[in-house]
Amino acid sequence: MNTRYEHSLELLERALRVIPLASQTFSKSLVNYPKGAAPLFIERGEGAYVWDVDGNKYLDCVNSLCALTLGYKRPEVDAAVSAQMHNGVSFTLPHRLETEVAELLCELIPCAESVRFGKNGTDATSAAVRIARAVTGREHIAVCGYHGWQDWYIGSTARHLGVPDAVRALTHKFDYNNLDSLQALFEQADQPLAAVILEPMNVAYPAPGFLEGVRALCDQYGALMVLDETITGFRFHLGGAQSLFGVTPDLATFGKGIANGYPLSAIVGKAKYMHAMEDIFFSGTFGGETLSLAAAKAVLSLLKEQHLIDDINEKGRYLLNGLNALLDELQLRDYFDTAGHPTWSFFTVKTTDQTLYWQIKTYLVQELASHSILSIGSHNISSAMSYADLDHVLSTYRQVLPRCKELAQTEQLAAALQGATLQPLFKVR
Ligand SMILES: Cc1ncc(COP(=O)(O)O)c(C=O)c1O
Repeated sequence: MNTRYEHSLELLERALRVIPLASQTFSKSLVNYPKGAAPLFIERGEGAYVWDVDGNKYLDCVNSLCALTLGYKRPEVDAAVSAQMHNGVSFTLPHRLETEVAELLCELIPCAESVRFGKNGTDATSAAVRIARAVTGREHIAVCGYHGWQDWYIGSTARHLGVPDAVRALTHKFDYNNLDSLQALFEQADQPLAAVILEPMNVAYPAPGFLEGVRALCDQYGALMVLDETITGFRFHLGGAQSLFGVTPDLATFGKGIANGYPLSAIVGKAKYMHAMEDIFFSGTFGGETLSLAAAKAVLSLLKEQHLIDDINEKGRYLLNGLNALLDELQLRDYFDTAGHPTWSFFTVKTTDQTLYWQIKTYLVQELASHSILSIGSHNISSAMSYADLDHVLSTYRQVLPRCKELAQTEQLAAALQGATLQPLFKVR
């Protein structure tokens, strides 16, 4: 047995007795990490690195599912949190930090005139949907991408167990970069849309005119346009993807990197719609929790002052360009490809053979982990990563990819897997 992950496996057994899937977050669980061939629990992080419970060190290319833009334990952020902790965490009345961070968001984000906070991205996307239903008096929603765990969205995916059919019937998917698929939804007169919610970009760049076309359709049919910037916000551009692509939605949602790993999300938007917040119900005990707001204030100030978004863009481009050059040089394009934005890029496997696909995915997670790189197929760049770190990723791919192709071609891949093979997941992007 591979003893490298011995303590991960022990802790897995213990955790599974008391925690379903042994994780609070689906994508952090063993569904993404092959049991026995990758770490399953992290002990600590610093800068660009994490250490697992067996003491192995990794360059973290997942960065808590894009929640960290500045790396672990960014001193200015932790100092702000620590200072706030000495004054108290959650209070009986609102705190001034709520206003200060809201003002910063209104300064940075084109559509933001008014702001409310939540804890997870799902809080914000669900609030956006409720506002849209309240202001339009309509119930149907068009979705594109991933928007969280609540009934209104997850009911539209294959993971809809436990969601009432009546709720599922109100959510309709359309395809990214396919305006006709959205137009077709708008033309269903018996299901008038309250909102169109989409990730401004995930795997593919918006085709020319696509986001503008969504904006125009929303205006034509009287629906609210909501950009779900949970990932793209404070990653692609300081003003969000809406600044990068020049299309202003009615509402937008943020989470993840807004507080560099501290739990905060935000719904922002035009005041005329955000006013509905006074009549709908969106309220939680910890919505104004001050440690995360202090973190967000420090993060937003750092991003503004130190051009760190430019930094992660440059680093991301360096990695993506290097990887593309490598795929060409080693003639691996028949098996692999890249996609996405430099700050959130994807390494993709091309085969249509599902068994082979999951074997390759498993092999790559296994081999990258054994070369001290934590990745599940994406490269979520943080400013803490150095160019030497990125060179290490590239040199690892240089070693691993030709071997992977050779094993696949000679049908020896299954035998090369040291642990469980990853199983197909429900796909949302
Ligand atoms: C685009 C997008 N929207 C919403 C969410 C939901 O955020 P959370 O998991 O914080 O509830 C996510 C999470 O991955 C996301 O990527």
